[in-house]
Amino acid sequence: MSLLFEPVRLGELELNNRIVMAPMTRSRASARAVPTAEMVDYYRQRASAGLIVAEGTAPSANGLGYCRTPAIYSTEQIAAWKAVTRAVHDAGGTITLQLMHVGRAASQHNKPQGAETVAPSPLRARTQVFTDTAGLVDTDEPRALALEEIATVIEEYRRAALNAREAGFDGVELHCTSGYLPMQFMGSDSNQRSDAYGGSVENRVRFPAEVLAAMATAIGAGRVGFRMCPGNTYNDISDADPAATAAALCSAVEPLGLAYLHIMRSPLATLDAFALAQRHCSSGLILNDGFDGASAAAAIEAGQGVAVSFARHFIGNPDLVERLRLGQPLVGFDRKTLYTAGARGYSDYKNWSGASA
Ligand SMILES: Cc1cc2nc3c(=O)[nH]c(=O)nc-3n(C[C@H](O)[C@H](O)[C@H](O)COP(=O)(O)O)c2cc1C
Repeated sequence: MSLLFEPVRLGELELNNRIVMAPMTRSRASARAVPTAEMVDYYRQRASAGLIVAEGTAPSANGLGYCRTPAIYSTEQIAAWKAVTRAVHDAGGTITLQLMHVGRAASQHNKPQGAETVAPSPLRARTQVFTDTAGLVDTDEPRALALEEIATVIEEYRRAALNAREAGFDGVELHCTSGYLPMQFMGSDSNQRSDAYGGSVENRVRFPAEVLAAMATAIGAGRVGFRMCPGNTYNDISDADPAATAAALCSAVEPLGLAYLHIMRSPLATLDAFALAQRHCSSGLILNDGFDGASAAAAIEAGQGVAVSFARHFIGNPDLVERLRLGQPLVGFDRKTLYTAGARGYSDYKNWSGASA
């Protein structure tokens, strides 16, 4: 049988198989960033994944910035996440939470009152975000974090990791790609600081490295992973040398002994992100982007990583693991309902047999 269906251990995380559900923002939380009943159904239906990495979730009010995305700083949010993790565990699954502070990739319209848009430097991302109240809007002009405020943001992440454990998550994943706060620090363009968190590559990776160290100290390194995509330009990010930056972050956190690195293919043809990760990181590698069952099995057999994550295939195929095992065809999904509220196009996809998931 293919290695895809064999169990594997990543730090303290026990995976029943090597098929990971990648994090996907689906905008089904409440306007108060609280997980909903539809989210409980959606994650329970996908619990046969070896590991679910639940969607990007804000560690603090300032970390919010997209429409109807969840957070994990209030007691109400923690309580609602408990229903999700209980459902996944009852169905035999393992689940981590992706912590996503969007930094400057935000609109005030999507933030609670009093929350601010902050970033390493006061440079607006030339991009737009959707809001329920004003439609598509330009992102906010961010306020640059003062040096002494950076420790406060790191503390928000540490607290969020503890909250995630209290909510029943098996661990957390730090979102270090797609132009959000950690990548805003890592990018030579978005980070124009002249203090210990800007300038040299070692300084630019300091923020995500310190966040990961704080979270590892709080909940154990074996329950902490991180996600990177070197060369990703999403949300108007650019970096003069993405390979060097990715390698520097790996080296900075290598002594921590983290559970895993969730590594995405680079959009740059000249940059082999999987090979880079293998060279610079001894944590288990979860490979991502554009895999199907055959290519995932081949990558694991070839030793490129220990597991493969799937995002889009999990949207319309809640029983993706069973479909891959049986060689059943995969179905597509409706783009129009990717980010709309409610169960439609979210938790109403069927299993291959036609049964409700
Ligand atoms: C609807 C949607 C939402 C996504 N949201 C996130 C997210 O919250 N965090 C993240 O790291 N990646 C996010 N991604 C990227 C996916 O995790 C994944 O890297 C990408 O879709 C490529 O994998 P795939 O080819 O298996 O779909 C999202 C992708 C999609 C399609």
